Amino acid sequence: MTTGQASKRHAELATEVRSHDEAYYVHARPTISDQDYDRLYRELLDLEKQFPELVTPDSPTQRVGGTPISEFKPVQHLTPMLSLDNTYSQAEVREFVQRVQRIIPGETLEWIVEPKVDGVAMNLRFERGEFVLGATRGDGTTGDDITVNLRTIRNLPMRLKGEAPPLMEVRGEVYMTRAGFEQLNKQRVARGEEAFANARNSAAGSLKQLDSRIVAKRPLALKVYGLGKVEGAKKNFETHSEVLSWLKAVGFPTPEKTWQCCSEDELLAAIDELDKIRRDFAYETDGAVIKLNSLAQRERAGFTAKAPRWAMAYKYAAEQAETKLKAITIQVGRTGTLTPVAELEPVFLAGSTIARATLHNEDEIRRKDIRVGDTVTIEKAGEVIPAVVGVVITKRTGNEVAFEFPRRCPECNGEIQRVAAMGGDIAAAWRCMNPDCPAQVQGRLVHWCSRGSMDIEGGGDVLTSQLVKNNLVKDVADLYNLTLEQLLTIERMGKKSAQNFLEGIAASKSRELWRLIHGLGILHVGVGGAKALARAFHTLDEIANASVEQLTETNDIGEVIAQSIHDWFRNARNQNLIERLRAAGLNFTSSTAIARAPTNSAVAGKTFVLTGTLPTLKREEAAARIEAAGGKVSGSVSKKTDFVVAGEEAGSKLTKAQDLGVAILDEPALLKLLGS
Ligand code: IVH
Repeated sequence: MTTGQASKRHAELATEVRSHDEAYYVHARPTISDQDYDRLYRELLDLEKQFPELVTPDSPTQRVGGTPISEFKPVQHLTPMLSLDNTYSQAEVREFVQRVQRIIPGETLEWIVEPKVDGVAMNLRFERGEFVLGATRGDGTTGDDITVNLRTIRNLPMRLKGEAPPLMEVRGEVYMTRAGFEQLNKQRVARGEEAFANARNSAAGSLKQLDSRIVAKRPLALKVYGLGKVEGAKKNFETHSEVLSWLKAVGFPTPEKTWQCCSEDELLAAIDELDKIRRDFAYETDGAVIKLNSLAQRERAGFTAKAPRWAMAYKYAAEQAETKLKAITIQVGRTGTLTPVAELEPVFLAGSTIARATLHNEDEIRRKDIRVGDTVTIEKAGEVIPAVVGVVITKRTGNEVAFEFPRRCPECNGEIQRVAAMGGDIAAAWRCMNPDCPAQVQGRLVHWCSRGSMDIEGGGDVLTSQLVKNNLVKDVADLYNLTLEQLLTIERMGKKSAQNFLEGIAASKSRELWRLIHGLGILHVGVGGAKALARAFHTLDEIANASVEQLTETNDIGEVIAQSIHDWFRNARNQNLIERLRAAGLNFTSSTAIARAPTNSAVAGKTFVLTGTLPTLKREEAAARIEAAGGKVSGSVSKKTDFVVAGEEAGSKLTKAQDLGVAILDEPALLKLLGS
């Protein structure tokens, strides 16, 4: 294939994949089978591999994220991003309408009501229909350039359909889907990490990641609701409804429902109706936004210093209840984290009776000055677990008792330490440092037996707590020495269940390697990480002996996780556990390992960029040989590039390499490197 043909085919494929992406992610109406889609996508990927110069930032393949960056650059919005005045009161909605009517006397006012998406505000810049820059709101004037992260959001169009103005800013909100948020939190808890408090925090935390490959895996999505600066548009909009329909037509995800209202009563009815249906949306909403529909009237209404006079947010009261805090208990998880739990006078809230709520950590209790005996407000607003939001100070009697956070583990009296958590987006927690702590031992047993690990039926809370209490099991390796006689000493244990449990344990010996890895409960290693390790390494011993660098080279394993794995296998106790599992006859070999490229050459792990025509090697041959030697081939030159291989008529990539001081090789030099 000539470069010209490749470029033509690339454009065709990109357009086709883009349109299927839009159908799927924006309209939730797939237009092609998964299989056919995969075929197109693969062809695009293969083509880009052969012709790396065809990879542009708006290619559908770039949604998976790229090289991590070191910081977000500040960027100025072309028009400021204002906030909205808000209210919880219907009377204030009426006052608002009357106020606007006084500014625009004698004219009929038409309003649009939209869901207020509870996410993170975004400014998206498009030039000639192409997404070029995306930024957070920041202080309203200057935000952070998070373009690389936004490119991973599947329903954000990289290129618009139809005619687009030379320059335009689109305003919207990035959110995490409710379902995605709950799943993400479950995974985090399974990995021994702290759960995110709510979907908005986790969307904000995700967008702050410097590694866009992590962002690509977070269930983020966009909703747009307006325009910022627009320059050189042919078409002039008269109303907000027209703006929304146009945004939808060119490929943006817009609110699924809006209401047009002509009176205060209609507005309040719309707000009510939205409240009834908003729980069915994929995202959290915290209110309704009321906006004047006519853009000319908006101009006449004008702005205050921070907000438009033509719009207002009506906020729905969070679902809260008051109840008495009877006690604070401490839960010790399998990783030793001490979580304070509020034991409450049972109270009915948003469809269920709540008797316990999380207090997150010691700092949180202190910050909110929560005392045992207090009347507290609890909330269930997008949170998976209800949380205590604060104390009802007016109900204090003086008999409340400040809570003394334990200085030792309440389960084993062992030493506890404050441990800074992953990425800094998690509050520091106390952790019990005693690996023999019965609560941890039991937690590890439950985790080992769980569906996502060794899948041993019967190994739930009830039985494992008995095993620990009766001193029958001190760690997961002890399971493999259990006898029927021992199990029958447990209260209310029947012979049949005991036999079933033993059979389950025996069957677990030949489970796939990733299940065993996951079952070990290494901090930060979830099912995905365990599977990735089992694909990249042949045996458990290879993983145990791998350096942090080698572990980091594994897909899906970042530095923090790699370090955690490395540390785990350097711990004498864990080494002993592994030997006992080996002796018990457990499977340590991966059936899913993919043959890995040799990693001992000067090429391994290095990034190459090919440019120009090489004297003998075709570009794809050169790329294949680099990859076979464990190197990576990329389409563009950056600080992260190790070598640029330049042939005849090398262009801008060579110049850029020279500017950045990247090593430049000719073909003979490359061959020498490959041969070494
Ligand atoms: S319009 C100039 N519409 O709420 C007014 N904002 O509390 C621009 N928000 O900063 C905002 N959904 O981040 C508008 N349908 C919607 C919205 C919405 C969520 C956010 C937005 C804004 C904040 C104000």
